[in-house]
Amino acid sequence: MMEHMTMTDLGDRGADRTLFFIFGATGDLARRKLFPAFYSLYREGKLSERFAVIGLARRPRTNEQFREDVSVSIREFARYKAEEDEQWEKFASHFHYMSLDINKPEAFGQLKELADRLDDSYDIGGNRLFYLALAPELFGSVSFNLRDGGLLDSPGWHRLVIEKPFGYDLPSAEKLNEQIRQVFQEDEVYRIDHYLGKEMVQNIEVVRFANAFFEPLWNNKHIANIQITLSETVGVEERGGYYDHAGALRDMGQNHMLQMITMMAMEPPSRMEPEDIRDEKVKVLRSLRVFRDAEEVRDNVVRGQYAAGEHKGKPLPAYRSEEGVPADSVTETYFAARVFVDNFRWAGVPFYIRTGKRLPVKTTEVVVEFKNMPENVYFSRKTKLEPNLLVFRVNPTEGIYLKMNAKRPGSEWGIVPIAMDFCQSCEVGINTPEAYERLLYDAARGDSTYFTRWDEVALAWKFVDRIEQAWREQHVDLHPYPAGSWGPEAAQALLARDGFKWWPVNGQHEGEVVWATPVAGK
Ligand code: BG6
Repeated sequence: MMEHMTMTDLGDRGADRTLFFIFGATGDLARRKLFPAFYSLYREGKLSERFAVIGLARRPRTNEQFREDVSVSIREFARYKAEEDEQWEKFASHFHYMSLDINKPEAFGQLKELADRLDDSYDIGGNRLFYLALAPELFGSVSFNLRDGGLLDSPGWHRLVIEKPFGYDLPSAEKLNEQIRQVFQEDEVYRIDHYLGKEMVQNIEVVRFANAFFEPLWNNKHIANIQITLSETVGVEERGGYYDHAGALRDMGQNHMLQMITMMAMEPPSRMEPEDIRDEKVKVLRSLRVFRDAEEVRDNVVRGQYAAGEHKGKPLPAYRSEEGVPADSVTETYFAARVFVDNFRWAGVPFYIRTGKRLPVKTTEVVVEFKNMPENVYFSRKTKLEPNLLVFRVNPTEGIYLKMNAKRPGSEWGIVPIAMDFCQSCEVGINTPEAYERLLYDAARGDSTYFTRWDEVALAWKFVDRIEQAWREQHVDLHPYPAGSWGPEAAQALLARDGFKWWPVNGQHEGEVVWATPVAGK
């Protein structure tokens, strides 16, 4: 069994015996992410034979049909190739299906009967994990029905795993939370932010806290700025209805991007325990400088919406022509912001964040730009020195890139930028686990480190709500950008004003350096 070493490593303790309830079992998330995650965990020995999955959705399906759905999804999306052999048969036999109308409380009585039966036959001990791959409006009523239907009366533990979006703003999130908390305790609620399940996002804390040459420099004396880019090439796909109601700030900013800021900015936790780590993240969110008025929002946040454009020669429609999007929509498909963490470590260091749909590449990267050497010292008088960069490559390549200056061989004083490039995904290849594997596994063994706690969610909404309010009430500009471009010009100006620029992402650094170490594994 291969364990991943992280600060919160629970040693050899694997997933407990678990009865998984997947609400929304015929949906996209289950198909693309959850079933493949079960399969990887099973193949790696992280699920014992004492587990069962009940797939729940309204559509009628037999167990056999459901197992066929699971098989199709695994063949299409899983990291491991499924062999239709004895091991496959054994795996598939853990999957059961029940058609359920979640609005009918009496149906939960039947679900309890099925659950009790499976509990006995797999000797699960009453441990139950309820995964709601559903619209958030349903979280409250499903929780009540689980309780009233007697599903929480079993002897083991009970956990609720929920997907984003957790509300639409702070008041709606509070309402949702209040409903859930009538049934589940905070430590039973696992709120998914799948970015926290990504290997390289988890690696940020390890690289920071396990390396003598980073931690001492990790502050405003040595770091000039931090840049976080989450770019996507896709448009809104079939989700126009949802997306137009949300927009980029709610869809990516409130959760994934603010979570990445916390990982970059948090203090070392006092213990490697989930609550201690989450306490440190909350402190970062509490230190975010909240924009006071529309003027400050205008100065620090750029919002954009894609117009018609092209990608690799292929014409792309404007956002307003997408299905489910009103022709006069003012929803942002892009935003960039200059964010400050007002504490002793980070005072004065801008965190620049940007995300958008229909950008030229799909990538997630964090660039740390270090302060340059003083201009009047010997070397920099002769050559214009480039700043040192440390880059966490999260997606699609996973790796760490370090750019520094060195002597050009054979020259007298020639200084050139060189790079060290560690490509983890080239090296580890198929063994790099998907975010959902890690998260499902953690939820089943009760490790909540990489799930968001209520106070994190609330503080993130507080920060985002202020921006949304200014956009709504003060008609802050919405900049159009051609689909397939890097977003509005104004996002460049946001950094240029401070004397910085967005660094190229997605391996495009190579063009800037004279030598790079060969990429491992290539
Ligand atoms: C989701 C957003 O949370 O993250 C989507 O709702 C977005 O709009 C997705 O496409 C991106 O995730 P990833 O893992 O592909 O970067």
